[in-house]
Amino acid sequence: WVAVYSYAIALSFAKGTLYDGFKMYEVFMMDRPAGRGLDYSTLENNNSYYEVFSRNGVAAHILVHPDAQPDFLNLLDANTMNYKIVHNDVGLWLQSDFEMNQKLRNLYPYQGKLGTERYYSHAEINQFIEDLAKQNPTRVEVKTVGKSFEGRWLKTIRITNGDGRANKNVILVDGGFHAREWISPAAVVYGINELVNNYEAHAQLLQDYDWVILPVVNADGYEYTQISPDTRMWRKTRQPSSADCIGIDPNRNFDFHWNESGASSDPCNDEYAGPKPFSEPETIVVRDLIHSLAARGKMYLTVHSFGSYILYPWGYIDLLPDTWKDLDEVGRAGRDAIKAATGTVYKVGSSTQLLYPAAGASDDYAFNAGFPISFTMELPAGGDIHFDPPPADIDRLVKETWVGIVAMAQKVVKMY
Ligand code: ARG
Ligand code: ZN
Repeated sequence: WVAVYSYAIALSFAKGTLYDGFKMYEVFMMDRPAGRGLDYSTLENNNSYYEVFSRNGVAAHILVHPDAQPDFLNLLDANTMNYKIVHNDVGLWLQSDFEMNQKLRNLYPYQGKLGTERYYSHAEINQFIEDLAKQNPTRVEVKTVGKSFEGRWLKTIRITNGDGRANKNVILVDGGFHAREWISPAAVVYGINELVNNYEAHAQLLQDYDWVILPVVNADGYEYTQISPDTRMWRKTRQPSSADCIGIDPNRNFDFHWNESGASSDPCNDEYAGPKPFSEPETIVVRDLIHSLAARGKMYLTVHSFGSYILYPWGYIDLLPDTWKDLDEVGRAGRDAIKAATGTVYKVGSSTQLLYPAAGASDDYAFNAGFPISFTMELPAGGDIHFDPPPADIDRLVKETWVGIVAMAQKVVKMY
């Protein structure tokens, strides 16, 4: 037994992770000489060596293969780019993060309540909303709205004040579009719990409004990121997109200026728009929710990470909608409330102006379909590689996020 045991240990040490020796760089875009900068398309076309995780006008996070380190440093040098190494061995970091999550899973099994001690699985989140519906039959309704590619049930929870009045305005919230952005479902689930179990405090928000919430859009991807350190950084869905590659970016798959900007036609790319709009069962679910609620829908909010942004349309082009002042006002209410509560500084503005153009996203789609207020909220970065706030930070982040969402909802309730 001892021999077998130590053999297993030796194996697990020898194995390592896919990301052993990868480094995460933060490359600064400010103060670079005019006309100089990194050519992202070169990096992105080389996607076995580089993965561009995020970029905005200020900085980019780029994961670099061990073999590509000298080339990458030369490239930075040639373009006189300033950089910082955010993590020296991403594999090691993912491994320890994975072990910590496994440990917490055993320590805090699901027992009818979802706390903020750890991240939860899609199945646990579904169980949680089902349990809420059973416990609060007059105020909570759970509906199965579709099935993921791998067959997971996608369920919405509708939360009302139980007065039975139909046709109220609606706030539609979703989370978990991108698999690795774990703090998103966590924040959305926290909000669900607040609206249902701390109902008194939110009576005003439920007076003339119903809330409809889909906590994990990309259920397959979300589950995939939980099975090993190697899969932790997955972003897309899990439907095969070509002979060699899997997944499309659900937030590039909506049929509004689809694939016109900030998206890729390469099935292996992380921002692959799909073979056609709504090629995925998961995006069809969100599309149908948006249309079924658009007549009564006042705010659509999709929760992502990371970057501390409250983003509004347009995201496909550098133009502002006529009503941008309303969007800005609601967004600023969220930003100011968060700033006052915790000091965290969010930026508010159009997706294209603050980040980059990216067409085919759900925020533009919902806005165009009739939601007068539509946001992508990018929660703050956490952890060493920024998609992964450690479990100890969940509580603070989800509470802070909820403060912002409440402030925005209050503004919307006054406005419409
Ligand atoms: N980080 C998000 C993404 O890349 C931002 C989306 C913002 N919205 C937009 N329409 N561009 O999907
Ligand atoms: Zn995202």
